[in-house]
Amino acid sequence: MFALVLLCALVSSSHGARILGVFMTPSYSHQVVFQPIWKELSLRGHQVTVLTPNPINDPSLTNLTEIDLSFSYKTWDNYSIATLGTKEHSTSEEVKKLSEAYLAVSEVQLSHPAVQEFLQNNTKYQFDLILVEFLWPIMYGFKDIYKCPMVGISSLGLTATAMEAIGNPSNPALEPEFTLPFSTNLSFKERVISTVFKVLFKVGAQVSLRPKMEKLKQKFFGNVRRLEVIAKDVSLVLVNSNLALQNVKPLVPAFVELSGIHLKKPKSLPPKLQKYLDEAKEGVIYFSLGSNVKSKFLPKEQFGKFMSAFSELPYKVLWKFEKEDMENKPDNVEIQKWLPQQDLLRHPNIKLFITQAGLQSLDEAIRAQVPMLTIPFFGDQRYNSDHLVQSGGALSLDFHSFTSSEFKEKISELITNPSYKEKITKLSKIASDQPMEALEKAVWWIEYVIRHDGAEHLRYAGVDMPFYQYFLLDVIAFIIATLALIFYVLRRIFKHVVVCYKVVKNVLKSLTTLKSHTE
Ligand SMILES: *[C@@H]1O[C@H](CO)[C@@H](O)[C@H](O)[C@H]1NC(C)=O
Ligand SMILES: *[C@@H]1O[C@H](CO)[C@@H](O)[C@H](O)[C@H]1NC(C)=O
Ligand SMILES: *[C@@H]1O[C@H](CO)[C@@H](O)[C@H](O)[C@H]1NC(C)=O
Ligand SMILES: *[C@@H]1O[C@H](CO)[C@@H](O)[C@H](O)[C@H]1NC(C)=O
Repeated sequence: MFALVLLCALVSSSHGARILGVFMTPSYSHQVVFQPIWKELSLRGHQVTVLTPNPINDPSLTNLTEIDLSFSYKTWDNYSIATLGTKEHSTSEEVKKLSEAYLAVSEVQLSHPAVQEFLQNNTKYQFDLILVEFLWPIMYGFKDIYKCPMVGISSLGLTATAMEAIGNPSNPALEPEFTLPFSTNLSFKERVISTVFKVLFKVGAQVSLRPKMEKLKQKFFGNVRRLEVIAKDVSLVLVNSNLALQNVKPLVPAFVELSGIHLKKPKSLPPKLQKYLDEAKEGVIYFSLGSNVKSKFLPKEQFGKFMSAFSELPYKVLWKFEKEDMENKPDNVEIQKWLPQQDLLRHPNIKLFITQAGLQSLDEAIRAQVPMLTIPFFGDQRYNSDHLVQSGGALSLDFHSFTSSEFKEKISELITNPSYKEKITKLSKIASDQPMEALEKAVWWIEYVIRHDGAEHLRYAGVDMPFYQYFLLDVIAFIIATLALIFYVLRRIFKHVVVCYKVVKNVLKSLTTLKSHTE
């Protein structure tokens, strides 16, 4: 009896699953969303192996094996993603450049011996679940190699391709692609652009990108299924969107919304920074362009405009600036290479956050209730920025055309007009009022997929329906054809009736004339 109890205890405590996580994008703002998830899974007794350019490297996490892909940052930087937004460019150029970077990064990551081990020697390993960044399909190949369920995670909203994989409806009039510069309340012109962009994007991806991806997949994964087919087999996608920054939209059950998963519990600030902020009674503007757009790459022209506006402001400015020193630095400007952003934003003397409008930064500022001035550069930043401005919690600046005085006026408006603070406080309360913590929710859903060995029962039938059936083209065609037929038949009948009527009428007429003649 005792042995049985012991056995049961052993069995139930060893329900830990073997999980392979593949998180490829060499960008810190993506990885901060994934890190807490893989860490928490390992703490709950799952055996987690992760391929990532940003390992946590914490030796106390004994159930976690991280394969360090940080070398791929070099390849990513080679495509000047950091300076992409500082030059004027079109959305299609941007998509092209990012695609090239992704192709190159996939190639170097998959060629690396430590990753090759999981491709070539795959019979040595077994996994119960693949977790994958649901953005760039090449890595979905791991699902077919290890033949287990797959859960996607996205640090951004979902691309049209990803939406299609789970069959989530996305109407271009309501849901523009997040690489476009508008987000909500679309005008007629914007709806036209959104629709045309969606179609061109799909066609472009089909003819230029897909073949390249398939070729790369063939090279590294061999004869697994087509990537778009594997993508449709995803059990769930966890999306780190923020309700305050997204349009309300219908979601299929496989779309699980997380918000603020990367947010950490408040910690005390470094003493020097704490003192600086405490003493700044006039208020501090915090300025950071995130991890992708480095301040040191800022063109001289815009840099000059920032500096001259700052020097005329009655506030202190704390600038996350990645160089040792700054020429002609105004007295009220303080530079630091790195700052604990989440805790910093919570300080009551922070009056304004000037940001590139990356999703994670916005999330942090909304939670800390700090109004924002956004300077979007690329990716989803213009979309996020537009949404926040329309909701009344921020103002925005066009990096390529702004003037120093416009910059200064917007800063003053945001700090002195209380409506921005009120609006952001309201958004903050909404964003943090959730049935469960984002991390708890993510882990619950991942373990749900493990418990049921996939989530086939959540699959929306729209995923497998051909295009023409989904959009009712066959039904509409049938109805039109039927109506046309009915119309045609009625017309023919009518014509005959008219002809008959005329004949009868003529006959009657001639009869009457005949009659009158004979009389
Ligand atoms: C590792 O997993 C085992 C169960 O598989 C668990 O008992 C142990 O606490 C985990 N260790 C850590 C550091 O999370
Ligand atoms: C960067 O690009 C150059 C030229 O295209 C190439 O020769 C070099 O190998 C690339 N470096 C990396 C790390 O990819
Ligand atoms: C596969 O495993 C064997 C033995 O463990 C090792 O010698 C070989 O280098 C591995 N191959 C790859 C491609 O990692
Ligand atoms: C969209 O427009 C409506 C009416 O014009 C307005 O009430 C609403 O607040 C707008 N939505 C956003 C997110 O700005």
